[in-house]
Amino acid sequence: MKYDSKLLHAGWDSDADPEGSITVPIYKTTAYQFNNTEHAASLFGLKEFGNIYSRLGNPTVGALEARLTALDGGAMSVALASGTSAVMYSLINIMSQGDNFVTASQLYGGTYTMFDNILPEYGINAKKVDITDLKAVEDSIDEKTRAVYCETVTNPGLVVADITALSEIAHKHGIPLIVDATFTTSAIQKSFEFGADIIVYSLTKWMSGHGRVIAGAVIEKGGFDWGNGNFPLYDKPDTSYGNMRWGHDLGDLSNVAYSIRLRTVPLRNLGANMSPDTAFEVMSGLETLSLRMERHCINAKKAAEFLINHESVEWVRFPGLESDPSYELSEKYLNGTGGSMVVFGIKGGKAAGQKFIDNLKMFRHVANVGDTRSLAIHPASTTHSQLDEEQLIAAGSPPELVRLSIGIEDIEDIIEDLSQAIESSK
Ligand SMILES: Cc1ncc(COP(=O)(O)O)c(C=O)c1O
Repeated sequence: MKYDSKLLHAGWDSDADPEGSITVPIYKTTAYQFNNTEHAASLFGLKEFGNIYSRLGNPTVGALEARLTALDGGAMSVALASGTSAVMYSLINIMSQGDNFVTASQLYGGTYTMFDNILPEYGINAKKVDITDLKAVEDSIDEKTRAVYCETVTNPGLVVADITALSEIAHKHGIPLIVDATFTTSAIQKSFEFGADIIVYSLTKWMSGHGRVIAGAVIEKGGFDWGNGNFPLYDKPDTSYGNMRWGHDLGDLSNVAYSIRLRTVPLRNLGANMSPDTAFEVMSGLETLSLRMERHCINAKKAAEFLINHESVEWVRFPGLESDPSYELSEKYLNGTGGSMVVFGIKGGKAAGQKFIDNLKMFRHVANVGDTRSLAIHPASTTHSQLDEEQLIAAGSPPELVRLSIGIEDIEDIIEDLSQAIESSK
């Protein structure tokens, strides 16, 4: 099937369902009856796959995982409770105390805090560099570096990452490239085709798309050699799991050793599982992802063009504008779009930016992106308020920046609202 058909059909076949249900049923159950003790032992020993307990897996969540895997052309996925848990698990699945990873200084605020404050408390160090400086990325890799990590398009600075170049650097050093593809979605960018090994999503945003659920996922491309000697967690016997050496003992499944370990170690023991109700919502949202993204992106380009030509606007960043520093990379990676986010600085700085937001009528003022509705926020006083001015600038979010997530409403209404709010903030 082509991508747009997979959005509707991958992961769920109503022919195979005894009731013929056209949408995936919501399996509201915590546990699953074993056939006998041998069956139970076989499931626990990873000798066969099947349902055990809904923290480890659930048929509704499994259908979503199969759909996500198919959409990105990966080998296996693990759905999680949030994008945040997906970011965290994607990293702790391959690193422990004393290890590090190289990442961007330009990151979503919550991720920035996780990397700056939380992971170092557990001895995992994030080496932050400007992600457009490929030499700095490579120079930061040492013998304890377990991954390169970035956002495909950064939140909120809208810097487009050069995934292919970053993956080449990572692979030269025998480590994976992990990308947070929340801002691109699989509808705009097939990150695996460009060289990424692991994709992380906040499914809370465009993938589910309607502002109704918090959800995340980690998807593995398959084929990375986790037993190549760079991952002590995959070499040493895991005493919590029958002395399994994840990089060496999985036989036919070694192709997806990362996903199997993620489910069996972090998910099983730390427990940020997705509920079946959430999986149902995400699957419903995915059905219209292509249609929504098309409209989101067309509207965003028009909104960016309106803003850049407005005399009261100081600067605009939208990767699809020819004048944008990320334009060339956007042409390569964003499938003919510039994405659906626009950020800008209004003349009059931070105060005028806040006034602008207070004067919006149709735009919703919320701490979210990727809803069907148009959304606006001032990151420096909200999502990124934990950062000081220097960190804000390094994160690509100067104090005056206003972030717009452009929705799928009529573009005339979007521009009308932007226009009146700018006028009223003068
Ligand atoms: C790029 C990016 N990654 C991860 C997250 C965290 O996702 P969640 O809110 O689903 O935990 C966000 C949230 O805004 C985000 O923008």
